[in-house]
Amino acid sequence: MIELENISLALTGRTILDDVSLFIEKGTTSVILGPSGAGKSTILKVILGLLKPDKGSVIIEGRNIVDENGNDALDVRRKIGMVFQANALFDSLTVEQNAAYFLKESRNKTPREINTIVEEVLSFVNLSGTNKLYPDQLSGGMKKRLAIARALAVDPKIILFDEPTTGLDPINTKAVLNLIKSLKSRGTTSVIVTHILNDAIAIGDVLTVINDGKVTASGNLKDILNTKDQFIKDFFYEVFEDASFFVNNKKE
Ligand SMILES: Nc1ncnc2c1ncn2[C@@H]1O[C@H](COP(=O)(O)OP(=O)(O)OP(=O)(O)O)[C@@H](O)[C@H]1O
Ligand SMILES: [Mg+2]
Repeated sequence: MIELENISLALTGRTILDDVSLFIEKGTTSVILGPSGAGKSTILKVILGLLKPDKGSVIIEGRNIVDENGNDALDVRRKIGMVFQANALFDSLTVEQNAAYFLKESRNKTPREINTIVEEVLSFVNLSGTNKLYPDQLSGGMKKRLAIARALAVDPKIILFDEPTTGLDPINTKAVLNLIKSLKSRGTTSVIVTHILNDAIAIGDVLTVINDGKVTASGNLKDILNTKDQFIKDFFYEVFEDASFFVNNKKE
């Protein structure tokens, strides 16, 4: 469980997050949706403990990480996997070495145990048999799946995804979205940040729309469309122009 309570954060004198509250239930897939510059990646950095808010609490599994330092903060961060927008794979390492990277870094595992885990996560993301390839020999979709496998290897309770489908074609987008959906079967809590409405709707149990550092609406699709907020209407209008469930919420 992740809870942001009244988070405010200014960077270089400008308000980036303005009283953001967010509740992410254990084992769910939550999507943070909003336009470019809304503050989505900043929220992920706050959850990871990379940025400290000026105000508010970040409660992860019952602990307020804003108050924690050093080893305690690291302890909480270990529970969280991160899949970066640009993947952040190591180009000079093979697929299996990339997948094993955080395992080797943070856990006391024997090479044999590491090998078993690597095989399992590569199989889970459908990359079995690519062990000896290097990232530049993989397609965009394969790289993304490898980044997900690397995050999964340390068995995190929570995985954060920053724009996981950007730059992927529709087939790879679908594969990655299905993979994220399937994390539920592992009991993982997933948080996905995206500006792509269709992706958000395809995978989110709960959607939180943010604009200009503020939460505009939160809930399921119906809840959001019922807010009658002008920004929501503008943002959703393009996609739902012809959809029957949008009729009652149409832009005036
Ligand atoms: N380190 C920083 N110092 C100052 N301003 C920052 C910093 N990091 C982000 N910002 C600003 O905060 C705002 C929100 O940035 P953020 O990266 O969270 O947006 P985003 O919603 O992830 O956008 P995108 O969809 O383009 O990735 C932007 O206006 C950005 O310029
Ligand atoms: Mg971003």
